[in-house]
Amino acid sequence: MIIAPSILSADFGRLAEEVERVLAAGADWIHVDVMDGQFVPNITMGPLVVKALRQRFTCPLDVHLMVERPERYVDAFAAAGASTLTVHVEATPHVHRALQTIRQAGVRAGLALNPGTGIDSVRELADDIDMLLVMTVNPGFGGQRLIPSTLGKVSRARRLLNELGRSDVAIEVDGGITPATAGKAVLAGAQVLVAGSAVFGQSDYADAIRRIRSAGDFNGHI
Ligand code: DX5
Ligand code: ZN
Repeated sequence: MIIAPSILSADFGRLAEEVERVLAAGADWIHVDVMDGQFVPNITMGPLVVKALRQRFTCPLDVHLMVERPERYVDAFAAAGASTLTVHVEATPHVHRALQTIRQAGVRAGLALNPGTGIDSVRELADDIDMLLVMTVNPGFGGQRLIPSTLGKVSRARRLLNELGRSDVAIEVDGGITPATAGKAVLAGAQVLVAGSAVFGQSDYADAIRRIRSAGDFNGHI
């Protein structure tokens, strides 16, 4: 299981220190939420922040692009040092081309599905992805509650990927992941857990990560 704290809930005035602390606390990846004020109502950060993080840290940088026509920014984020670039199927008519461009840039390619989006595109794109991000809230803001129906989608997506011979594609869940929901997400078939407020909103990051990890471990092994 991979725990990827989202810096959306970090203190931006002390970002490097926050990332250092969360890595020391046991985070596996750092999740970077990029929002453009178009695809989602919020605006956050761009390639400059990814570049600044890459200059200081060697950890995987898991970049989640919540932007319209993300193919326009693939090269900039690849050059900045992203490890994974995830694009939303709803954000472009050319999602296949976007995924191809990501891989050509030498970066792992992720496909993201909003809560209202079905898994049909996974059948078409299974060979072009390294990760599937099933949104467990509507994207745009941290601190929301997980939408229960999205866990059924995680199970169906896991089955479909396995059926298509892509059991190696990790499923990531993002939104409302806490010690109370992490177990259900892992049981449904998720391997990568993004958590923003459940980590950065706590005073003890190591304890917060440990609680999410042990909830996931327990439920994942029933
Ligand atoms: C939502 C973002 C998430 C968000 C998760 O738009 O993609 O990564 O930061 O935050 P929590 O864990 O607080 O729901
Ligand atoms: Zn995210």
